[in-house]
This record gives sequence, C-alpha cells and structure tokens, in this order.
Amino acid sequence: MNYEKALQHPIFKVISKSAEELKIDSYVIGGFVRDFILNRGLAKDIDVVAVGDGIKLAKQVAKNLPNKPKVQVFKTYGTAMLMYNGIEVEFVGARKESYTADSRNPSVENGTLEDDQNRRDFTINALALNLNRNAFGALLDPFNGITDLKIKTIKTPLNPDITYSDDPLRMLRAIRFATQLNFTIDAESLKSITRNCDRIKIITNERIVTELHKIIESDTPSTGFLLLEKTGLLHHILPELTALKGIDEVDGQRHKDNFYHTLEVVDNISKNTTDLWLRWAALLHDIGKAPTKKFNKKAGWTFHAHEFEGSKMVYKLFKRLKMPLNDKMKFVQKLVFMSSRPIVLAEDIATDSAVRRLIFDAGDYVEDLMTLCEADITTKNPRKFEKYHNNFKIVRNKIIEVEARDQVRNFQPPISGEDIIKAFNLKPSREIGIIKEAIKEAILEGDIPNDFNAAYALMLKKGSDLGLTKQ
Ligand code: CTP
Repeated sequence: MNYEKALQHPIFKVISKSAEELKIDSYVIGGFVRDFILNRGLAKDIDVVAVGDGIKLAKQVAKNLPNKPKVQVFKTYGTAMLMYNGIEVEFVGARKESYTADSRNPSVENGTLEDDQNRRDFTINALALNLNRNAFGALLDPFNGITDLKIKTIKTPLNPDITYSDDPLRMLRAIRFATQLNFTIDAESLKSITRNCDRIKIITNERIVTELHKIIESDTPSTGFLLLEKTGLLHHILPELTALKGIDEVDGQRHKDNFYHTLEVVDNISKNTTDLWLRWAALLHDIGKAPTKKFNKKAGWTFHAHEFEGSKMVYKLFKRLKMPLNDKMKFVQKLVFMSSRPIVLAEDIATDSAVRRLIFDAGDYVEDLMTLCEADITTKNPRKFEKYHNNFKIVRNKIIEVEARDQVRNFQPPISGEDIIKAFNLKPSREIGIIKEAIKEAILEGDIPNDFNAAYALMLKKGSDLGLTKQ
C-alpha cells in the first residue's frame, strides 16, 4: 500500500533528500500516519525515525530548509526537534529500548525500524511510511495497525504486560485514545491494565495530567472515566471520584450514585462547552459529598456544606497532581463552591433580588455557573427536566435584565468607607462596617437603587440610627 498522498507537505521531500545525503533510511511514524488514515486532519507534530543518527538527520534537514530553523537537541534521549511553518518535527534514531522496573527512563541501544516499531505503544501508532526516494510513501505495518484502525481497536504490538510495564503511562494513553477516537481496548490489553494499574504510581503527575486533560476534552469524557474506574486506575489518580461510587440504603431511603451522576454531568456539559476548566468543575462539583454524607431519620441522607468541603478538596487535588494553583484553580474552586446556588432558583420562579445576589456572588463566572447547573440536571422525570430547564432559561434572561439595570457584577459599593468616615468624622470603627454592609444589603435586596444619592441617604439614616451625627 502506498500513501504518498499523505506526504504532500514539502518537508517530507527535504527529509528524504537529507537522509539520502547522509546515506541513511528515514520514516515518518506514529500519530501523523494514524491521523492521516483516520482523516483527522493534518497533525501538528511529525515524528521521524532515522535508521542511524536522528540528531544528525535533524541538522541536515535544517540546513536544507529555506529558513534554516534552529535544531533543539535532547542529548539524553538522542532526539532532536525543529519547527517548520508551525509544524513540530521530531527526529529520533531507531532504537531498541528496555526500561528498568522502577523508572521509565530507558536504556537505549541502536536498532532497526522493526525494533523501533516493536517498542511503540499501540499497533495503530506503529504505522510507518517510508521516506526513501525509491519507496516514498510505502506503508510498513508489521502489526496490522491498519486492520486495528478499521475495527477501531487499541492493541499493543507486544504482549501488553511488556508494553505497559515498559512505560505505565501507556495504560492511560490506551484509555485516552479509546475515548478520543471512540475505539475499544483489546480484551487482553484491558486485563493487563487492570493487573498492572498500580504501576501508574511511578509516572509523574505532569504526564498523568496531560492525559487526563485529553480525556476531559473528548466529546464523551465518561467513556474514559468508566474505563479508568473499571481498570482500577482511577482509584490511584482521582480517589475523590471513586469515593463517590455506590448507593447506601438506610430505612429504605437511598441516595443516588454520585459517581455515575458526575459522569452524566460531565458528558452533558461537554455538549455545551469545550472549556477544559469548566469541564473540570463539572467533574469535581460533587466531590465534597463523600466526606460529608450523613443519615438521620428526620432528614434522610444529607451532604451538609459539601460545596464548601468540595472547594477545599479542589485545592488539595490540584496541589497533589501538580496542576497550576492559579486563577484556573480558583475558578474551579468557586464553581464547586457555588454549584448548588442556582438550583433553588430552578425550583421556583426566581425573584430579582435572588438573581442580583447570584450575580454579585458569582461575578464574571455567573454564565459558566449557569452552564454547570444546567448540566447538573440529570433527573429522569421528563416533567421535572423540562421545568428546571425552563426556569434556568428564565434565570438566564433575568441575569441579563438585572445586570443591565443594576450593574451588580463586580459590584463596588457607591459609598466607600472613606465617605462614611468623612460624613460622621469617625475614626476607623465597627460602625463603618455596619453601614457599608447595610448599603450593600439594601442594593442587593432591591430596596434602593445602585447609585450614590440613594446610598448616601441610607448612610445618613443608618448613621443616625447608630447615634452618629453628620458633620
Ligand atoms: N509513543 C509510545 N509510548 C508513549 C508515548 C509515545 O510508544 N508513552 C510513541 C507512539 O508511537 C506515538 C509516538 O510515540 O505515536 C508519538 O507520541 P505522541 O506525540 O505523544 O502521541 P501521538 O501518537 O502523536 O498522539 P497525540 O498527538 O494525540 O498525543
């Protein structure tokens, strides 16, 4: 089979010529070939294998390219990389690799193309196209990767126990590819992942998070999380989620399985947003329910203050996984913390003051919060489902209406502490806080408009109630 049509980009002819000048063979391999055959559009990365010195080939290619790009060399791995017209081209010498049991740092030996294909993760990622002039575009598919692409299967070239223990991250990659491509993981592979799941412990958090992000960014993230749970990997990576599994029953009263509910919410939100962090918020919105779960005869099952507990857990979870503790983390925390707030508004017709308070508390995140809460509607009762969605539509319209009128988003009170000090000639004191709070409350309640004159008048009244005199 010839795939010359995959090699239209001018870079391939330059690589071919450069390899010929060095008298070595070269191939394009991995994701580029896979994605071309799957029609996923041209990849941004190209992986090139040289049967010989990959770094030398990279330098030769750079010399032959019109813009003479810089070559970045990674000596420890024997690889080199250059950028050409926004495409990242990575060069590696064909190698035989074996890994030590307690680390994923390989000891590397030179090898043939077949050796190199053998040590790749999946049959669909071991496909190679020849770049040599006399066989330009010829496919090399020793493990029937093409068939696996057709039958949508993720399978390892070698015994899965070997492939996965060589680099345990591949267990996550298998699940990530299955989720992204809607493929099935071969039964032997799935068993092997389950057997070896605790080997994920030797993988750095950064690499794990990269794969998690890709699962979360897929069309149907639940596919990945169900597989992570089934194989035992989830317990190692996100025990906060596995803790949500199960239904308890006391005196005939049951609560819902919050793990499966969470996955439904993540799939729902993924239909309405591609924002990675909003999807994370959906994934974590109920994690506080496991540690706060209680039963009492009167109230049944309760999860008192689970949103507060959950938001604290978000920080710990991000820290443990070495995710950024920045504004993204704060966004997820805030959404988890407020995740139940709009629900009460969906049960009844929302008043203006409730909406004003919601905007005040959620600030710029109010629309994202609404998107999360809409996704949280997983009731199987069609009457309730419709009612909640309709009420949320009303709330969304009211948000626009109330915001246009009252501008309480990023609310700055029209009267400052300074104004109060001046008006009553005060020293810093408790009264200032009391008056400020009263003004804020009156605006949010809709008792006075959000403007200076109304607030000033209220300040005078409150001041006089507190026994203060205007200076
Ligand atoms: N590879 C591997 N084992 C890994 C990572 C990568 O065998 N743990 C091999 C696979 O052949 C893979 C290639 O290296 O196709 C390139 O890896 P990478 O760029 O991470 O993945 P892609 O397959 O290109 O897919 P994506 O761009 O979606 O990550």
